[in-house]
Formats: sequence, structure tokens, C-alpha cells
Amino acid sequence: MELYVFMFMLATLVSSENKVVREFFYMNGCSDTEKENLYGSDGEELWHADFIKGEGVVTLPDFADPGGFDGFYQNAVAELEICKQNLAVAIKAYNNPQEKMDKPQSSIYAEDDLQLNVENTLICHVTGFFPPPVRVSWTRNNEALKEDSLSQYRPNDDGTYTIFSSLPFTPQEGDIYSCTVNHKWMLMCLVLVQLCFVEWVCLLDFWESLLELSSSLKETTATDIPDMEANFENKLYIKMSPPKDLCFHVILMLSAFTGAANGYYYSRWATCFHSSRDLSDMVLVDRYIFNKDVYIEFNSTVGEFVGYTAHGVYNAELRNKDTNYLQQERAEVERYCKHNAEIYQSAIADKTVPPKVKLSSVKQAGGRHPAVLMCSAYRFYPHWIQVTWMKDDQPVKSDVTATEEMPNGDWYYQIHSHLEYTPKSGEKISCVVDHAGLTKPIIIDWDPSLPEPERNKIAIGASGLVLGIIIAAAGLIYYKKKSSGRILVPS
Ligand SMILES: *[C@@H]1O[C@H](CO)[C@@H](O)[C@H](O)[C@H]1NC(C)=O
Repeated sequence: MELYVFMFMLATLVSSENKVVREFFYMNGCSDTEKENLYGSDGEELWHADFIKGEGVVTLPDFADPGGFDGFYQNAVAELEICKQNLAVAIKAYNNPQEKMDKPQSSIYAEDDLQLNVENTLICHVTGFFPPPVRVSWTRNNEALKEDSLSQYRPNDDGTYTIFSSLPFTPQEGDIYSCTVNHKWMLMCLVLVQLCFVEWVCLLDFWESLLELSSSLKETTATDIPDMEANFENKLYIKMSPPKDLCFHVILMLSAFTGAANGYYYSRWATCFHSSRDLSDMVLVDRYIFNKDVYIEFNSTVGEFVGYTAHGVYNAELRNKDTNYLQQERAEVERYCKHNAEIYQSAIADKTVPPKVKLSSVKQAGGRHPAVLMCSAYRFYPHWIQVTWMKDDQPVKSDVTATEEMPNGDWYYQIHSHLEYTPKSGEKISCVVDHAGLTKPIIIDWDPSLPEPERNKIAIGASGLVLGIIIAAAGLIYYKKKSSGRILVPS
């Protein structure tokens, strides 16, 4: 008998580098009430103009080399004037078009691992909205808090904006914190649901169901009641010793928030993109945007201005005819993009801050098996990270769910990975975290024999504004959630 041995398949595909696109952006925006001038990178802030104090504010992360921003504020003031003029021209040219609106999505989380009586920061992450502004307010046990800080409006790729509000806090047993987001033209049901023993992932699930409701609500009512403003509220509950039985209260609250429409938003975004280290593939994209629509764009690969509407085509042609202006714009790839990207690379992007890792067990609903472990990494930079699980030194592929890297808004990130498993004696489970800031991966073994440390019970609810008619729908969510077994019970 002959034995045929097969060779291992020849690799015909050459591995390619996993390219990371980095971006450096400049944003200038205005409406009747808003003024903004911001420099940032990879979704974070570097510098902005404070038009109230009349000065520039440097917001480099604490691990960055110091940088100078000479003359930026004067430039911002000049650009704001141009913005206002362009806004007025565009409103006329487009003949007062329908205002574009996108509803905000918000979530609330703590910057660091929650420990009772240990200082921490709460983050309210509001994203996907158009136009600015949104109002973010905080309460502790229903009392208004003032000590929060608000980020700038940061542009997203899809034309919407993101903002972060952060609140220093020290978790105390029984305290309830809430973050309320107001954005015009949105109608939200305000359902204050208190869920006990709900862990972080459930927040997302729950919030999604609220959003589903809100979008259907918006479609049916937004045109009828155009000047209502909506109100989102997220709540974070901190509990130490929860009662044995489920605590699940639904409190319905109604609040109406009306405000005058702020009108049209005009902005200019100039973004430098590159993915190679030597910056040879640098591209500058400079966009002029009115009411969320790009009407003029300069892409350095194309080399001239392109208009997307009649008003845009007219203005793009004017700019292209002005050879000086066009030459200057073309030169910005070298002068502005490459120069800044070099500085950014060495002063910030090449730096790393390693994560702080914590492995904990998560209670399951009804003492249900399998058990769930949660591996969390906090306060790391940059955001690329790998969290994996090992069972008896073998990689675990299934039953793992992980969140995306979550931005704290201050250049740092966090991530949470969950593993479902059926406990067996003698089995070793470990969480492995790898990050550019580590010389070797952090490996934490789960030791079930250890007495469970006093863990903070975190319960999260969410709420938004509701019209009277929606109370019944809110009740439905309550029953739906209650029956779907998302609530985790102590065993
Ligand atoms: C710039 O133009 C090039 C060539 O048309 C295109 O491939 C690229 O996607 C454009 N970049 C952006 C960000 O629009």
C-alpha cells in the first residue's frame, strides 16, 4: 500500500499589512447661536477656540509632548466671520430649505473600575446627532449637578456630531446619577427604568430598544409637532447589597422641553488622511457643508474644487479660476498636513499608555448557567487592543462577546469582553490582554476558589422624553424586558 502524504498548501497570497488610517482634522462651524473652531486627531481634541473667554485652549493628552499653537485664536476669529457670511449666503442660495435633523444616541459609563468611595469619572457619550447644539445635564439623586465639563462638538464621518460630558464622582451606596441630553426636534419617551444587577452590556441592549421606540415615535410625530425638543436620560445606579428578589421598578416621568429652533448649521471640515508612516499617501479633503450637505469639496488627489449643488458648482468654479487660491490649497498637503502629521506622530501617536486590566465574574439571571466572566481593560492609548480568553492554555473562540473600544473622550479608551462558560473543577480560565504599551501580554487567571470580593452592583436604567400617549408603550418595554430575562439575579 502506498501512502500519499499531502504537502501543506502553498501560500500564494502574500500577507499584507493591516493598514491603519490616521486622520488629522480641522473643523470650523457656526449657526445663529453656535461658534466652533477645533483641531483634532483620530476623534480626539488637540486645540479649540474659547470664544467666550477670547482665547485658545490646548487639550493635548497628559502623555503628549507639549506643543505650540501660536496665532490659532486670531485665525479662528477670522474664520468665524467667513463662516457667518457663508451661512447667510447659503441660506439665501438654498432658499430656506428643510432643516436636517438626526437624533442623538447616548450612553453612560464610568471611566474606571467602579469601587465604592473611590473617586471616578462618569462619562455621558452623546453621538449621531445633527445639528449642534445638544444640552447635557447631570443629576445625583434627582438634584442638579453643575461640576461637569463638556467637550467640543466633534465631527463624525457621516456628517453628524459627537460630544462628551464628564462628571467627577465618588460612588456611594444607593446613589443614582443621571445624564440628560436635550436636542431639538426629538421626541423621546422618558422611561425611567430601574434595573438591578444589570451589567454593562445590558445597558446597550436596553438602550437599543428605547431607540427603536424613539425612531418610530419620531416618524409619527416629528412633522406634527416640529418645535418640541426631546430629552434623553440615562441613569446609573450604584448598589452594594441588593435585595434577593428582583428589584425592577418602572417610574414614568414626563417632561416636555420646548425651545426655539436654532436654525441652520454651516461648517468647514479639512481632514488630512494617511496610512503610511512616511506620510507619502497623504490626502487632504477640505469640505464646505451647509445643513449637513457637502456642497464644495477639495480633494488633493483630484487637485481642484468640486461642487455638488448648483450653488456649490458656481463657487467651486470661482475658486478654481483663482489660481493663487488654488495653488495655496494644493500646497496645504505639504505645508499643513505633512508638517502637522509629523509633529502629531512623534508628540502623541507614537506614545502608548498600557491598560489596567480587571477580571471579574458577572451574575446571571436566575442563577442560570453558564457562568459569565468579564475582562475589562481601562485607560489605555492608543485604542487598538486585543482581549482574548484561554481555557487550560488553549484559546477560546466561542461564547465570547466583546464591546468595541469605548472612548473616554480624553484620549483614553476602555473595553469589556465577556466569556460564557460552564464551570468545571480543575479547569483554568485566563484572560489575555495585548496592547502596544505592553512588552508582553497581561494574563490574568480566574480563580473561582477565591472569596468573591465585594463587588459593586451596578444597575442601569435609561429614560427619555415621552408624550402622554407613549406611557403604554413604555409599559410594554418594561414587560418585554422583564420577560426576556435580561435582568441578572444574584445567585
Ligand atoms: C479623494 O479622491 C480620490 C480620487 O478620486 C478618492 O479615491 C478618495 O476616496 C477621495 N477621498 C475622500 C476622503 O473622499
